[in-house]
Amino acid sequence: KLRESKLVLNKLQESMTYIRTKTSAKPKIGVVLGSGLGAFVKEVEVETTIPYKDIPHFSPPTVEGHSGNLIFGKINGQSIAILQGRNHYYEGHSMESVVFPTRTLAMLGVETLILTNSAGGFGENMQAGDFMVIEDHINLMGTNPLMGPNIKELGPRFPDMTEAYDKRLIQIMEDVLMKQGTRYHKGVYCGVSGPTYETPSEVRYLKLIGGKAVGMSTVPETIAANHLGLRVAALSCITNLAAGISSQKLSHNEVTETAKQVEMQFSSFLREFIAHI
Ligand code: HPA
Repeated sequence: KLRESKLVLNKLQESMTYIRTKTSAKPKIGVVLGSGLGAFVKEVEVETTIPYKDIPHFSPPTVEGHSGNLIFGKINGQSIAILQGRNHYYEGHSMESVVFPTRTLAMLGVETLILTNSAGGFGENMQAGDFMVIEDHINLMGTNPLMGPNIKELGPRFPDMTEAYDKRLIQIMEDVLMKQGTRYHKGVYCGVSGPTYETPSEVRYLKLIGGKAVGMSTVPETIAANHLGLRVAALSCITNLAAGISSQKLSHNEVTETAKQVEMQFSSFLREFIAHI
């Protein structure tokens, strides 16, 4: 059992050692860019780009439209690290490898983690292309990235999740979205394993238990980040109405198309948000 946690720490050390041969940057802010939301990188003064495939224990993404790079750069003079693309549980990665990049960011000195994703929306008045500030989540993935022996060097056995998403950061996100005149909602994100989209009955259930959006990411990273004591902010791009809300069938194409349509709004939001953290 002890060996297992040692193994994760050793792996983190190995990825760190490799990254440190490429950059000495000490970003305090980390950003995870969800599917189709990679354009934010154009706003950034990029200093170093490291493909996931070169970093020990990082896995390159398998899904079309998801890229895989760890990027270091500056925005408004602030040093940031960007995970352009993520690993999803549905790809068959272990939860450990899903949260490995999050943990690596923490090792690099990141204290605030900004998570972004594409999600299906089912809140009142939601439209494709809206944003949703995540105020809390419900983990329906059937597992938890902290299962197994606790790695006490990373955090406590039973992490508190009362304010998994930082209240102050939520307020700043709302202020920025309001100022930009961007359509947005605030609500609970339901994290599911995928890879199927939901059935209409599942969406009715998610609504009943208090959700407003559903997606296949973010929850593992938020859990790992809270374990590590990071502040988390998360924003969903509502790329589609969830199954059964409209009669239209869902497709990955629709998801990436909508994400592309709001890319500019999304990028300028992130720039403003980071400036106000
Ligand atoms: N369901 C789950 N995940 C998603 C969806 C959805 O409707 N849209 C984008 N990611």
